[in-house]
Amino acid sequence: AAAPDLAGLRVVVSAGGTREAVDPVRFLGNHSSGKQGYALARTAAARGADVTLVAANAALPDPAGVRVVPVTSAVELAAAVEAERAGADVIVMSAAVADFRPATSVASKIKKSGGAPAPIELVENPDVLAGLVASRGRDGADQVIVGFAAETDDVVANGRAKLARKGCDLLVVNQVGGGRAFGTEDNQAVVLGADGSAVEIPRGPKEDLADRVWDLVRDRLPR
Ligand code: PMT
Repeated sequence: AAAPDLAGLRVVVSAGGTREAVDPVRFLGNHSSGKQGYALARTAAARGADVTLVAANAALPDPAGVRVVPVTSAVELAAAVEAERAGADVIVMSAAVADFRPATSVASKIKKSGGAPAPIELVENPDVLAGLVASRGRDGADQVIVGFAAETDDVVANGRAKLARKGCDLLVVNQVGGGRAFGTEDNQAVVLGADGSAVEIPRGPKEDLADRVWDLVRDRLPR
């Protein structure tokens, strides 16, 4: 069994991919299965943490000993994370959150009209990670905030720019595309630190990557 080195910590993990309703039967979504986020929740609980998992549309069993808060859309995910934020020592945003949602979700199924299809107008969703960074310390808590980034090219350069933009402590940059990361059992990543560090985590089970991320988080916790 893993050492209970996260005992006494309250952690919040987000997982899965949000769905943005177009009409009652359709949505805009992404390929996140939730596996990486669930692995993060499971490993944190195994290491003694008190874990809340905000889970967007993952068809996975609830991890043992983890409180699961199910959500569908980015707006719901933002509200659930906001409700859990206060008192958390660590927040890990591994969910794939839609940047945009349809401006209106119509109440009736969109029908073919024979003419040109109606365009879907989009509006921006809240940036949950940036919001967490902005409100950090409001409750006097010294939170460690971890983001994930799914990049297809120039993984480290794009990751560095995103880390600077989002202002989190650690950014786990996984390369996606070509069948990688989304929905797979394995993952690999470079973990960039706000302190300029870069740690490569070689390809392996998502559980192993999760454990390495918790090691890096643990090293950044106030003692
Ligand atoms: O679920 P799996 O199938 O196991 O796949 C795992 C994964 C590839 C989805 C996961 O490892 C991953 O990379 N998650 C983040 C994907 C993503 O949305 O990256 P991004 O570059 O769009 O967002 C960057 C960060 O900002 C993320 O921490 C994201 O949670 C956060 N974000 C993004 C948009 C938004 N509106 N609010 C946010 O908080």
